[in-house]
Amino acid sequence: MARKKIALIGGGQIGGTLAHLAALKEMGDVVLFDIVEGLPQGKTLDLSQSSPVEGFNSKLKGANDYADIAGADVVIVTAGVPRKPGMSRDDLLGINLKVMKAVGEGIGKYAPDAFVICITNPLDAMVWALQQFSGLPTNKVCGMAGVLDSSRFSHFLAEEFNVSVQDVTSFVLGGHGDTMVPLIRYSTVAGIPVPDLIKMGWSTQEKIDQIVQRTRDGGAEIVGLLKTGSAFYAPATSAIEMAESYLKDKKRLLPCAAFLSGEYGLSDMYVGVPVIIGEGGIEKIVEIELQGEEKTGFDHSVNAVKGLMDACQNIDSSLA
Ligand code: APR
Repeated sequence: MARKKIALIGGGQIGGTLAHLAALKEMGDVVLFDIVEGLPQGKTLDLSQSSPVEGFNSKLKGANDYADIAGADVVIVTAGVPRKPGMSRDDLLGINLKVMKAVGEGIGKYAPDAFVICITNPLDAMVWALQQFSGLPTNKVCGMAGVLDSSRFSHFLAEEFNVSVQDVTSFVLGGHGDTMVPLIRYSTVAGIPVPDLIKMGWSTQEKIDQIVQRTRDGGAEIVGLLKTGSAFYAPATSAIEMAESYLKDKKRLLPCAAFLSGEYGLSDMYVGVPVIIGEGGIEKIVEIELQGEEKTGFDHSVNAVKGLMDACQNIDSSLA
């Protein structure tokens, strides 16, 4: 059986980490693409030289030509610029929109059957533009945000409750930005919802509210500390989890930026919702009933995403 092919567009911090993880997990052979000559070749040579020690058989190749991604089963996109301290994800819009055009056209030409995961920010608007520029079906193009945001939330909750991260499940919806909506009642420790844990005296509402805020600001906190770039380990791990669900037809239920066609009362846009990822790509959008503040928060987040889509359309009128 032929090996799977994983194409990574963008060979920077996240791209390099994705290549490392994909090789360690032997998900398939890896092509790392970047516009900078030498960068992807250097990273893949370095990674290949770790394979005898690690014992993985994935082949890694660096590329500056889109022809090298031909026939990819999965494409993960991180091409673009990351945030600097003081910048919001939205500040990246103008530059990264142009990058999405080039990347989308490259994918459309050489990897039209791939499952595409976008990580480039501002995520919800970039994945929307990428899908259109690529011409791929909407169920095969999605964005990575919710898995990362939920993982950040779970990490903080595990610390607060002093329990294993393995027993924490958490749920974050909405756009990938300061307006994301962590759903406390669907966040649990081994099935016990957080509101019950508060009643049991494990924490207080005030502390949970602080954790929600820290989760919302999770990316900015890391940008502030790194000063020269944004988070890369957890974003890469999160996208790999989505790619594995597709490649192995796992049918994981994960929060992702997915294209909506009437679900949640929304159409023709991408926003973070729970989905099932299997061999058919985004196989199902799971519609949960939002209550009170959750609904208000989700609406607020959706409006922020719509604002970014408008800004994209002002720059590129071909976007519909
Ligand atoms: N085509 C391909 N690669 C490109 C292009 C392009 N048109 N433009 C830029 N790149 C490459 C850069 O050369 C760089 O190697 O994208 C890479 C981005 O890497 P980093 O600057 O290290 O950024 P990273 O931390 O990996 O984040 C990438 O993901 O989370 C988001 O906000 C983040 O939008 C940013 C993206």
